[in-house]
Amino acid sequence: MKKWGTLSLTLLLAVGLLTACGQNKNGNDSAASGEANTGSTTKKTLTLGTSADFPPYEFHKVIDGKDSIVGFDINIAKDIAADMGAELEIKDLPFDSLLNELSSGRIDMVISGLSPTEERRKAVELSDIYYKAEQSVVVREADKDKFSTMDSLKGTKIGVQTGSIQEELAKGIEGAQLTSLGKISEIVLQLQSNRVDAAIIEGPVAKSFVKNVKGIVITDAKPEAEDDGYVVGIKKGNTELLDQVNKTLSRLNSEGKIDQYVTEASELAEK
Ligand code: ARG
Repeated sequence: MKKWGTLSLTLLLAVGLLTACGQNKNGNDSAASGEANTGSTTKKTLTLGTSADFPPYEFHKVIDGKDSIVGFDINIAKDIAADMGAELEIKDLPFDSLLNELSSGRIDMVISGLSPTEERRKAVELSDIYYKAEQSVVVREADKDKFSTMDSLKGTKIGVQTGSIQEELAKGIEGAQLTSLGKISEIVLQLQSNRVDAAIIEGPVAKSFVKNVKGIVITDAKPEAEDDGYVVGIKKGNTELLDQVNKTLSRLNSEGKIDQYVTEASELAEK
């Protein structure tokens, strides 16, 4: 009798301890870094870092009187979070700070029209490519024919985003004087006020700005970027989140969702 009593008490204690450990782990770890939150009661947070100056990828829009961050990258981020059963938190940060924020663990993933360069691949994990686009040259309307080839940009003043592949691209143009700025809208302002001659911008973003801003156009010049396509950035070594992200991306691709998101976001950016 006594023996059984001790045994069941021990068992009870052991089970109790195990449960406590489980709860502790799920409860305390839930805010940490992008792992699927299976079986926990507190909803896990997945923190996205993005530079929301980039319509139709990510941009600010007042929706129902409230400033919101929207765009097709944001749709993708929401789906990744949903597939993980996590709550998405969005941090709007300068583009050139995103990979550092990732490495320091202040954000779990970067979705920000990020191109997969070799240098970035050394620093962080990069997902499969989820979308592709080309580069564009944007100039003042009157200069459209003057700057119709890449050669014609030699020795000109060029505006680019700090830390972007466009900055590297512009560095390769002979005699070009670069103005590197934090936001695309700032580059467009420089162009409008004659402080730069041209801007190199991702095609879809260039289209969106040209539609909304008077006096600027896309020229026929075609910048050649090696790293076409966009990827999600994840902290080095977090292969669990990387696998999860790739799974969601391949599902979205096969369901035709990414093209749909691009169309919807482009429409939203024009409104
Ligand atoms: N695709 C370019 C790069 O990776 C520019 C991306 C800029 N993204 C942004 N949200 N402003 O360098």
